[in-house]
Amino acid sequence: MRQAGRWDPEFNRIRAGKSFYAFSEDVERAVQASLCPRRFGVDGIILFYDITTLPVAMGLPFALQPSRGPVPDRPIRSRADLDRLNSIPDLESYRHIRQLLRCVREELKAELPVIVFAGAPFTVATYCIGTGKDIAQARRFAAEQPVVWRGLLDRLGEATSHFLRTLIADGADLYQLFDSWAGELTPEEYADWALPYHRNIFFSAPGVPRILFVKECPYLDQIVSSGAEVISLGSRHDLAAVRAQHPHLVLQGNVDADLLRSGTPEQVAEATRRCLRAGGGQRHILNLNHGVDKATPVANFEAFVRADRAGLES
Ligand code: CP3
Repeated sequence: MRQAGRWDPEFNRIRAGKSFYAFSEDVERAVQASLCPRRFGVDGIILFYDITTLPVAMGLPFALQPSRGPVPDRPIRSRADLDRLNSIPDLESYRHIRQLLRCVREELKAELPVIVFAGAPFTVATYCIGTGKDIAQARRFAAEQPVVWRGLLDRLGEATSHFLRTLIADGADLYQLFDSWAGELTPEEYADWALPYHRNIFFSAPGVPRILFVKECPYLDQIVSSGAEVISLGSRHDLAAVRAQHPHLVLQGNVDADLLRSGTPEQVAEATRRCLRAGGGQRHILNLNHGVDKATPVANFEAFVRADRAGLES
């Protein structure tokens, strides 16, 4: 979960000079971008695309605006807009992702697992209506246009299951479902707009381990009942306590991404060792509470991976 390798000078070199979506559709460069973290000694490779790649394939073009993130050319506003979104997108519309998966797998020769992902309907819907993580605005849209809002969630849910099933059949080793902004919802909204869609997607796209990420993971009981095998934990959770409470789960996290951005390599190494101890060496994926911030020094990322390697050897 490095949401934009922009902290990595090698990524920025490969990325230079193309718009985000053109870059992502350039399979050769997307392969290079996906493989960038390999040289640091990570344990898995996440493919390079975006959670908005799927709505683009469904018929809603996006552009990446530097201060705002992904913005649709024509935000969804009406039933007619909704009807233009294809809930079972043609395989041709995301052929570049399938090719990317094939090429990265060929390159890795099973040396590392390949992780694919999708945004969950709620978080992707916020981008489709043009509000992004401004939850108050998304809430207003849902109140004013309840039928369009529900229809949008349903269509995204169907397309997501379909997309993930295709990538699993193509050989993806696991997937991560990102409902990044659902942590901002009330528990009632979460039970309506997030949990049922997670359950449905996990139920209808089985066969590989599934990771659920909700930023800061506030409603642990609902998150645990989603059917995901792996839960990403926020930095405020006590990893050892959650592990004791839910021994059947695999937990991912939860070193603080802010520390990676602003701390010293020694502080990062110490926090990593603490996390490894709390994770208990089993059913734990060392990760951050959110993606690597673009202002993160490379030395801190290196310290994170190095502390993990040393921890495993000692
Ligand atoms: O992280 C990786 O490099 C792997 C591929 C990946 C991207 N986006 C590529 C990307 C992944 C896993 C994502 C997930 C994603 N995208 C999420 C869920 C994870 C999270 O961060 O909570 C969300 C909410 C998005 C939506 C999105 N895409 C935003 C908000 C932005 C702008 C980020 C910013 O800080 O400006 C993007 C753009 C994006 N997606 C980039 C990349 C590499 C940066 C584009 C660039 O290269 O300029």
